[in-house]
Amino acid sequence: ISCSLPGAVAEPKATNATEPLLLNAVRGLDVERPPVWLMRQAGRYMKSYQVICEKYPSFRERSENVDLVVEISLQPWKVFKPDGVILFSDILTPLSGMNIPFDIVKGKGPVIFDPVHSASQVDEVREFIPEDSVPYVGEALTILRKEVDNKAAVLGFVGAPFTLASYVVEGGSSKHFSKIKRLAFSEPKILHSLLQKFTTSMARYIQYQADNGAQAVQIFDSWATELSPVDFEQFSLPYLKQIIDTVKKSHPELPLILYASGSGGLLERIALTGVDVVSLDWTVDMADGRRRLGPNIAIQGNVDPGVLFGSKELITDRINDTVRKAGRGKHILNLGHGIVVGTPEENVAHFFEVAKGLKY
Ligand code: CP3
Repeated sequence: ISCSLPGAVAEPKATNATEPLLLNAVRGLDVERPPVWLMRQAGRYMKSYQVICEKYPSFRERSENVDLVVEISLQPWKVFKPDGVILFSDILTPLSGMNIPFDIVKGKGPVIFDPVHSASQVDEVREFIPEDSVPYVGEALTILRKEVDNKAAVLGFVGAPFTLASYVVEGGSSKHFSKIKRLAFSEPKILHSLLQKFTTSMARYIQYQADNGAQAVQIFDSWATELSPVDFEQFSLPYLKQIIDTVKKSHPELPLILYASGSGGLLERIALTGVDVVSLDWTVDMADGRRRLGPNIAIQGNVDPGVLFGSKELITDRINDTVRKAGRGKHILNLGHGIVVGTPEENVAHFFEVAKGLKY
């Protein structure tokens, strides 16, 4: 694999053998290969997860019971030995603790029972106190740290304010984002006060996850790219920056990863958030992504999840292409979005096998 691509880290320092590969890679230390994990690596493409779904049909139960959260988080760890083990949970999990009742319904996705559109509804949104509302998250992370024992990094995650607000205002998943845009463009004050509540709450949630064992935390702003760049600068960027600044003050060593789907038009603005790692989708060439983000930001992602429906040769080729273009160091191999339902498990196994056999 070529090491001389533009933007690759110059003169990497020696690796820290006691830390997981993923943390060393993010910090720009000298690693022998890129660490690898996959977004949605626990989930419906796995037979073992489907077995749990039959026994516990409620997503909320599966994601809010410590034993189930630990068991599901460890399912891909046991089979594929990824370099990152992400907590099994959802970006919407904090909502009930914020007085926003929701469910995740099979075949339909997230449902918010009383979508927010007025100032008085925003007033009723409570700030999130993780230790009171989601103690099972802290307990699960603590157990995961012991189980994984630094052989991989335990990853936490939160939803970003705009993306959370999009679910809460639209009432669920959305195609045109017309309700949140109506709010943004006709009553921006109401949206800003909702975004500020999510900002304070999610900064606190990241700190809580780190204090209970998360070794890096990914922020999902999946739908921020529905905004034009000027609107991203108003409704997403300042809140992301505020979360990152707050967490950097209390937890300066904690790597923060930012993912937005379709972020190719926003990369330079995303770099302004101060995040440590940017997770790219597949609409940007990895070499362009590296160049546009510069040498200080680590990069993740980029392989089209659809590639996992292709042949083993195709999967191998695409891994090699992205790794070569990312250059040596400061790279986490991952998909450009979550694994799609129906992906053959053996192709996921092949992805990990190839990834773990790479050598710079
Ligand atoms: O990556 C992992 O393995 C960790 C688990 C995880 C889940 N959701 C579990 C889940 C993570 C990191 C998420 C994040 C999440 N949730 C995001 C951001 C990532 C992205 O995809 O952009 C978003 C937007 C959500 C909201 C959400 N939750 C949606 C849109 C859905 C899908 C609905 C569906 O039926 O496909 C969910 C449900 C959900 N969260 C599932 C899983 C595994 C699927 C439902 C199930 O397993 O029963």
